[in-house]
Amino acid sequence: MGSIGSSTGAPARYTPTAIGLHWLIAFGIFAAFGLGLYMTGIPGFTPTKLKLFSWHKWLGVTIFVLAVLRVIWRATHAAPAVAPGTPAWQARAAAAAHHLLYLLIIVVPITGYLYSLAAGVPVVYLGLWKLPVLIEASDTWKPILQNAHIWLNYLMAAIVVVHAAAAIKHQIIDRDGTLGRMIPFLR
Ligand code: HEM
Ligand code: HEM
Repeated sequence: MGSIGSSTGAPARYTPTAIGLHWLIAFGIFAAFGLGLYMTGIPGFTPTKLKLFSWHKWLGVTIFVLAVLRVIWRATHAAPAVAPGTPAWQARAAAAAHHLLYLLIIVVPITGYLYSLAAGVPVVYLGLWKLPVLIEASDTWKPILQNAHIWLNYLMAAIVVVHAAAAIKHQIIDRDGTLGRMIPFLR
């Protein structure tokens, strides 16, 4: 796809910063999601299970930091204009999905973090730094935050599936270069 000018002043394609953050966070989330399902399936309390829980938390905290940077970066940098000829409802649906994804990559790690605290387990990042204990252990909040973490994860997974399916549909059926905006070597 060539460089398409835009009357709104939006750039023609995503910048390396936007692309780098998109894929760092996406692969981080795939790993944290798979690890989350795997570790919770291990029966009992084994050293391996405790180790995987720690890795999951460190990965999740790292994703949170990247997500905050990404949202700040995005708030100060316009996204490229949608591919020409995109129906208005699709542009609106994509924008809504992107807003929800930005919200979820922030809120999902926060629920995991608060759940860990409510369960009485402070988070020690990389085993080195004890992160702030924002709430006390609580039998009331523990199940609420656990369920919030699980169900917001499933909501995020559902949106990601539709989001990725839309990107692939643009690539295979519309052939309008949308996927190449996020995967530079497809351009
Ligand atoms: C974007 C980042 C994250 C993703 C994608 C993610 C994903 C998941 C998933 C899929 C599960 C399994 C849920 C189930 O039981 O079915 C899980 C569980 C868990 N997550 Fe996360 N998580 C993230 C961040 C965090 C963070 C930052 C923490 C804490 C610092 C955390 C703490 C936990 C804990 C303690 C569990 C076990 C819950 C249980 O025992 O049922 N997560 N996570
Ligand atoms: C956890 C996984 C993912 C998350 C959280 C995520 C999130 C996002 C967000 C928030 C945007 C909007 C960027 C902006 O305009 O500011 C975006 C754009 C995009 N994503 Fe993802 N994404 C994920 C996975 C994927 C996957 C697997 C694919 C491809 C199969 C993909 C392809 C794209 C493309 C092509 C765009 C640009 C859309 C456009 O030009 O309007 N994403 N993604």
